[in-house]
Amino acid sequence: MKRSFIREILEHTTSDTISFAGGLPDEKLFPHLALRESATHVLGDAKSLQYGTTQGYLPLRNKITHLYTTEGFRTTADNIMITSGVQQALDIISRYHHQEAITTESPSYLGAMNLFDLNQLEQHPVTLHRDGIDIAAFETSFSQTKLAYLIPDFQNPTGYTYTQEKRAQIARIVKEQQGILIEDAPYSELYFKEKNQSISALLPEQSFHLGSFSKALAPSLRLGWIRADKTLLEPLLAYKEAMDLHSNGLSQAIVDHYLTDLHQYRSHTALLRKMYSKKMQVFKTYLDELLPTLEYTIPQGGMFIYGRLPGISTSALVKHALKQGVVFVPGREFYYKQERDDELRLNFTNCSAKEVYRGLSILARIYKQACHTNKKAA
Ligand SMILES: Cc1ncc(COP(=O)(O)O)c(C=O)c1O
Repeated sequence: MKRSFIREILEHTTSDTISFAGGLPDEKLFPHLALRESATHVLGDAKSLQYGTTQGYLPLRNKITHLYTTEGFRTTADNIMITSGVQQALDIISRYHHQEAITTESPSYLGAMNLFDLNQLEQHPVTLHRDGIDIAAFETSFSQTKLAYLIPDFQNPTGYTYTQEKRAQIARIVKEQQGILIEDAPYSELYFKEKNQSISALLPEQSFHLGSFSKALAPSLRLGWIRADKTLLEPLLAYKEAMDLHSNGLSQAIVDHYLTDLHQYRSHTALLRKMYSKKMQVFKTYLDELLPTLEYTIPQGGMFIYGRLPGISTSALVKHALKQGVVFVPGREFYYKQERDDELRLNFTNCSAKEVYRGLSILARIYKQACHTNKKAA
């Protein structure tokens, strides 16, 4: 399990560390008062503290169903299972598919790669380009694995987004090969311009579409879900039941109450998009000023800017950065075989503008020193 770097960060960060490392939302934007109101309302009824059903609280499943149907993705409450975040959805699915082969993006989400390893899935990484996965390589790989894990919207770690054309190509391949797609979509609401159509909408019977309230509301709720065809979902219920009987009932009831006013939810996610888009612009302005050699793609949403510093080992750089009170995640951590060491992931949602400027100035200084040392050694 590739946890050592994350552990190292946790051991070395203090409250003064400027962290571009985590995928943390901005706490100032949590809908804390509205959730408090919902919590107070829900706790007015002692029933909210009772055991619930494994598939999840039906009123909440109905509301999630409504979110799909208003986007034209035909869904019923039978297609939804509530999970403890997308992380548990991935755990359940990878336990069910244990020891199978799976096509993944390279680089990919560390938390998924770890689960695939734990459940002995044989990972087949395929290069991820700025506009989505390499289609020819995906087709070859998928013809063998028949199972794929993709993050098409504002991917973690790269922030890349699939074009509509690539989405359609993936759907065609999965259909032709009669396989299954796991589409991880925790960032989908965080688009800056327009919402993308999910690949799963083109493949309703051959996909697991994974959603989460972690980024759109708050991660401590630990609420996510799987949207899948009933025949795909049913076998997973036994795994879910064995793991925790059901997800946190109080959280489910609170979010259900909060979503009763859909307008409130929609204005909240609109605010997040506006504020994160601004934060990304600020981050980009400072990046261009302070670290102009960083090669990166401007994200269309999400939480990350991913880039490359040619000729530099970012895993060495981060050790110096940590000592100076700044941290990021070196790209190497997101590669299955850790084959690249000149990339880095920067989170733009959590720090204030002041912290971003200070953190990037420190990084720029350390980077210049590293370039100088490299030149001398050459
Ligand atoms: C791609 C991806 N999938 C899943 C998760 C886990 O999300 P959740 O908080 O819903 O468990 C994350 C968290 O950052 C993520 O980046």
